[in-house]
Amino acid sequence: MSKKVVLAYSGGLDTSVAIKWIMEEYEADVITVTLDLGQREDLKVIEERAIAIGAIKHYSIDAKNEFAQNYIAKAIKANGMYEDKYPLSTALGRPLIAKKLVEIAEGENAYAVAHGSTGKGNDQVRFDVTIKALNPSLQIIAPIREWDLSRDKEIEYVKKYGLPVPIKKSKYSIDQNLWGRSIEGGPLEDPMNEPDEEVFEWTVSPEKAPDVPEYIELEFERGIPTKLNGEELSLEEIIIRLNKIAGKNGVGRIDHIEDRLVGIKSREVYECPAALVILETHKDLEKLTLTKSVLNFKRNVEMIWSSLVYNGLWTDPLREAIDAFIDETQEMVNGKVKIKLYKGSLRVVGRSSPNSLYIHSYATYESHSKFDQKAAIGFIDLWGLQTKIANMIRRGIKL
Ligand code: ARG
Repeated sequence: MSKKVVLAYSGGLDTSVAIKWIMEEYEADVITVTLDLGQREDLKVIEERAIAIGAIKHYSIDAKNEFAQNYIAKAIKANGMYEDKYPLSTALGRPLIAKKLVEIAEGENAYAVAHGSTGKGNDQVRFDVTIKALNPSLQIIAPIREWDLSRDKEIEYVKKYGLPVPIKKSKYSIDQNLWGRSIEGGPLEDPMNEPDEEVFEWTVSPEKAPDVPEYIELEFERGIPTKLNGEELSLEEIIIRLNKIAGKNGVGRIDHIEDRLVGIKSREVYECPAALVILETHKDLEKLTLTKSVLNFKRNVEMIWSSLVYNGLWTDPLREAIDAFIDETQEMVNGKVKIKLYKGSLRVVGRSSPNSLYIHSYATYESHSKFDQKAAIGFIDLWGLQTKIANMIRRGIKL
């Protein structure tokens, strides 16, 4: 019986070359796996291609719901955002792909799993760490990293073996799922170059967006969106719809210089329409429903959570421990948020909650306020006591 390797297959050039390469170099049978994480690609075509190249078996898995429920939902509650800019879309997908690879490898009795990551990025770290954490006895094969493959060498290889792979002229490296679309490489490698319109597929340019604003209302239960414009929907469906609605209003484009775990600074462009809308509204609702101390503590924790996820440590116990804390805080994060989308801008313009900590009778400037203004005088005396004393001492004034 020949050895089996389970490969994460996207249908693209890198992983297509990988099928053949593993067959040749490792003299193994290749089983391919493609997950639908909402990347809007035809899984049937991908499956046929894998088999045509030589895979002995292929798994197509619709993992959109699992991705939304077990990964994106946690990112929403944690306001997951790397370096204040990146909603972690690619980073969240990797541990789920790794988990499926391991499950299939165990079921198929394979000795190794494989992925198409290069040795220069974060994705290799996310795959490898997750695979090792879930099953350290599996060997890991990463042909692109091992062989130091360039695009030219890959195209040569495709021609040599006559592999049925469409060689797209795309200058960019693209990864997409429900939570966003990452675009890297080509002309974007000059950080001074404005991204050409051709890189964007999910968003129109703000200049071309409608001239009238679009209002939407998002309702949350325990930190998770459950209704869009009054209609109860699954999280997956809300994300799909928001990607369209925000995208057509020019909302969702991100352009930044990112610090990869491996030390490289890279120029990244993203389209994350739904993620930006949901995170902005979720943070707003938290401000209405959580105390200042919880908010401050949670903001620090969110940065740690986002770094863990970005840096491939999804399976670290710290991530789960932080999630337990975050879940506790989300009990109160219920309510509605009103958002105005207009030519690339996204603004929260209203919010309400059954758990609101905003109490009108305290906040109002009107005369019937419950807030006792006289109590403020004594409070301020004590609040500023040390500051007052320090100033007097510095100026040599006797107390
Ligand atoms: N820089 C992002 C990240 O590390 C996006 C990576 C995109 N991956 C890709 N294969 N194009 O999460």
